[in-house]
Amino acid sequence: MRVNPGKAPCPFEAPVHVNGKAARVRVDDPRMPLLYVLRDDLDLHGPRFGCGLGQCGACTVLIDGAATRSCITPVASVAGKRIVTLEGLGTPERPHPIQQAFIDEQAAQCGYCINGMIMQSKALLDRNEHPTEAQIREALADNLCRCGTHLRIVRAVQRAAASTK
Ligand code: FES
Ligand code: FES
Repeated sequence: MRVNPGKAPCPFEAPVHVNGKAARVRVDDPRMPLLYVLRDDLDLHGPRFGCGLGQCGACTVLIDGAATRSCITPVASVAGKRIVTLEGLGTPERPHPIQQAFIDEQAAQCGYCINGMIMQSKALLDRNEHPTEAQIREALADNLCRCGTHLRIVRAVQRAAASTK
């Protein structure tokens, strides 16, 4: 994959630490978006490509605990940082409580935004175990859901918070 059409490729070996495992990924350009590396090289398809411009949140991952848009994060910038993707939270057999809450509330319609909603919620609940509804809405305000399941998503985050009481 190329991100600098018109320029000679500049091969780069990117060190990444994802979901508790260290890896080195060879990319053509250190500016390669982290999202491409996660999906294309590491087969982690939880993070989604939505806008590719940092505007929708579908590609959100945690980097050192902060919800971050991987489509506009150059892979070279994450060296030495800990990345967690949706796959790092839980498994289909043992979902994370936030994932289970999204299932229980049937929060997904098409599901495209749900990676971002869950990862943004994880970052929120890590810093505030029991947010108010207003705080949940504020935290998720910049994550777009084209299906309009926002009310169920908010209920899912409330359910996840209640499960930690
Ligand atoms: S795909 Fe990254 S913010 Fe939309
Ligand atoms: S469930 Fe379809 S975009 Fe949110």
